[in-house]
Amino acid sequence: MAYLDAGTGQPLVFIHGFPLSSAMWNHQKDLATQFRVIMLDLPGFGGEPTLPEPPSMASFASSIIRILDGLGIDKAAFCGLSMGGYILFEMWRRFPERITALILSDTRAEADTLEVKSNRQAGIQKIKQGKREELLSSYLPQLLAPESLKRPEVVELLRAMGQQASDIGLIHALQAMHDRPDSREILPSIKVPTLVVVGTEDSLTPLPQAQIIQQGIPHSHLVEIPHAGHLSPLENPESFNAALLNFRFYFVRPD
Ligand code: MLT
Repeated sequence: MAYLDAGTGQPLVFIHGFPLSSAMWNHQKDLATQFRVIMLDLPGFGGEPTLPEPPSMASFASSIIRILDGLGIDKAAFCGLSMGGYILFEMWRRFPERITALILSDTRAEADTLEVKSNRQAGIQKIKQGKREELLSSYLPQLLAPESLKRPEVVELLRAMGQQASDIGLIHALQAMHDRPDSREILPSIKVPTLVVVGTEDSLTPLPQAQIIQQGIPHSHLVEIPHAGHLSPLENPESFNAALLNFRFYFVRPD
């Protein structure tokens, strides 16, 4: 897996959403002045090959742990957006000892409803029929607040990230999201400091979803990001980065 590794100090690993890549964190690279920032492209995204094993949140989680092992990083803070958050719930189930803090951005703890599961299957069929553009074109506008949709540089970046994902990568991620377990029951077991972030105009994982996560995790805080939809770190990086920098006092020990 390709990754960026910049800065020193507390490792902070960024995990992107669907159907994107680490480029969605372009504005968070500035945080390398405060952290050791690691940004990775998940298998099947950003030009990365897919994994040989069947798709699952567990296989995504293990692939991230393998990268950290390779870098000699025992523990890290993790920031995941949407599908990145789904992966973090699975990492908490499997590797809690590796996690010092969580930033759960624009995500949800619930499993897919039957309706969403059937949309995932329809998406997989579209890709198999060679209609991936149809799927991506329907997906991308839902990711942004109406005002962000008027920003060509943001829309173009989203399109470029979508194009970099391979067919098989998209299919694997849709299947893994379809199959993922409900994570609500593990929320009270999350004992590390946690920041829950949500764009005020997020229509895919709106505020009530963020509140479920925040109310379930004992040491958690919720921050709403104005002027942002589902991609708050990209749509309003100033507010997102400020929230993350404030939160660091909960998990970064002064030297
Ligand atoms: C994402 O941003 O990762 C996706 O919107 C998640 C999803 O489709 O559930």
